[in-house]
Amino acid sequence: MNIIRGAITVDADTPEEIREKTGELLRAVAQANDLSGDNLKAIIFSTTQDIHSCYPAKAARECGFEKAALFSSVEPDIEGALPLCIRVMVFAEGLKKKEKHVYLGKAAALRKDISAKLIVALDGPAGSGKSTIAKALAAAYDILYLDTGAMYRACALCLKRQNISPDDVAAAERAIGAADIGVRYEAGTQHTFLNGEDVSAEIRKNEISMLASSVAKLSGVRKKMVEKQREIAGTQSCVLDGRDIGTAVLPDAPFKFFITASPRVRAERRWKELKEKGETGIGIEELTREIEARDEQDRNREISPLRQAPDAVLVDTSDMTAEEVVALIREKIQEKI
Ligand code: DC
Repeated sequence: MNIIRGAITVDADTPEEIREKTGELLRAVAQANDLSGDNLKAIIFSTTQDIHSCYPAKAARECGFEKAALFSSVEPDIEGALPLCIRVMVFAEGLKKKEKHVYLGKAAALRKDISAKLIVALDGPAGSGKSTIAKALAAAYDILYLDTGAMYRACALCLKRQNISPDDVAAAERAIGAADIGVRYEAGTQHTFLNGEDVSAEIRKNEISMLASSVAKLSGVRKKMVEKQREIAGTQSCVLDGRDIGTAVLPDAPFKFFITASPRVRAERRWKELKEKGETGIGIEELTREIEARDEQDRNREISPLRQAPDAVLVDTSDMTAEEVVALIREKIQEKI
């Protein structure tokens, strides 16, 4: 069962206006979620107390939504609440995609975070905490998280398996051009695929990190990956993390953050992460050197180097907890919404 939320405001408390706006809201919910009358199971309405000339449930029946169980109630009289508002909760079965909530009229201002398309770009160097923050943000807004680094890691694995060096540009670009690299989501978690195989765990190995950075220098590889990233972000709200999201992939993204931390802190975070996954063969000193070398390569490559976009907010997470960073970013987003 899927639950879709929505709201709309009416211009006047008249039966005609309530019927019209209720129909508009329900049709928009059905259209946005590809719903037919058959998979709509129940619709619960609530209205503000200034609406009393008609029940939205009755209006819904009159608009042809008579197959679903319909129910209306009146909300408490809360000071400062948006006037003349109808809220809805639609219970539906058999949705092929994630629910799309619909906020129309003045109600759009109530939940801009879910009614408008929300794109958040997080760029920054390795170990800055981007992925932890991106995951938490995506969960908070109930939107997709796209880890673009995973795609370059899958490219690196592709070359490693075929024993091709990224320095052999022609062979490397040919191999990646021929490979099927993509992401799929299972229960909201990104899985990265290389030629149909789920390589999500394998690409996290430390030996892949530096190789991914080298592969990411190649223009043919970047072109292919950026196309895929734009395709995913083009159809839905999402948080993307990477190196070039705010500068090259989605330069028009409305919310951009550049996440950083001192090299030592970043190395410690990566070390902990690797240890948790059972990779214990590398010390913090070596990891610091590796991270610095990777940053150097990512910052100095010719195409889409790691850079803070001029309109990105800089967040130094060295002395912050992940929760503090997420709260700060959410605050910045809310300020601008
Ligand atoms: O974020 P990560 O450590 O998983 O990324 C691995 C490498 O991929 C990184 O060193 C540079 C490259 N990358 C990139 O060039 N552009 C992105 N948008 C994401 C990652």
